[in-house]
Amino acid sequence: MEYLDMVLNETLRLFPIADRLERVCKKDVEINGVFIPKGTTVMMPIFVLHQHPEFWPEPEEFRPERFSKKNKDSINPYTYLPFGTGPRNCIGMRFAIVNIKLAVVRVLQNFSFKPCKETQIPLKLVSQGLIRPEKPIVLKVESRDGTMSGA
Ligand code: HEM
Repeated sequence: MEYLDMVLNETLRLFPIADRLERVCKKDVEINGVFIPKGTTVMMPIFVLHQHPEFWPEPEEFRPERFSKKNKDSINPYTYLPFGTGPRNCIGMRFAIVNIKLAVVRVLQNFSFKPCKETQIPLKLVSQGLIRPEKPIVLKVESRDGTMSGA
């Protein structure tokens, strides 16, 4: 379960659903020398932060170990925002995480997934508000007891 959690975190780093967050500034403020007037919309680029080499060495690599017990405390929480942050962060975060884990465990107990000739490699993403694969992800499914397979 610990490794599953690491895999889920790393998956949401590479494939966050929301590519950016926005907030409207409630009062004039200066942060690190940048003046932001009241009423300005400030955008946080989640997808870019999740791929930034300054925060994630070799960012394009899928490495669940980034989120291991040993490493995760060194992650700046403002560089990893799959569920947003602050008082308006995702209200369904815990529900989503529990459901994803339950579904993954249940499916992987019986099936293995492998790339096949229809699998788009590298995977292309598109964003129209939410990030999603350009085409459906087609994989070969194998029964773990060897009785059936299919795409
Ligand atoms: C992997 C699954 C999910 C991801 C990655 C996700 C991600 C996000 C993100 C990035 C935000 C914006 C947060 C911000 O502005 O700081 C958000 C908001 C929200 N999410 Fe999710 N979400 C997921 C699943 C769910 C589920 C299952 C529910 C409901 C059961 C849900 C309900 C909401 C609601 C109501 C908001 C708006 C909160 C507000 O504006 O106060 N989300 N989500």
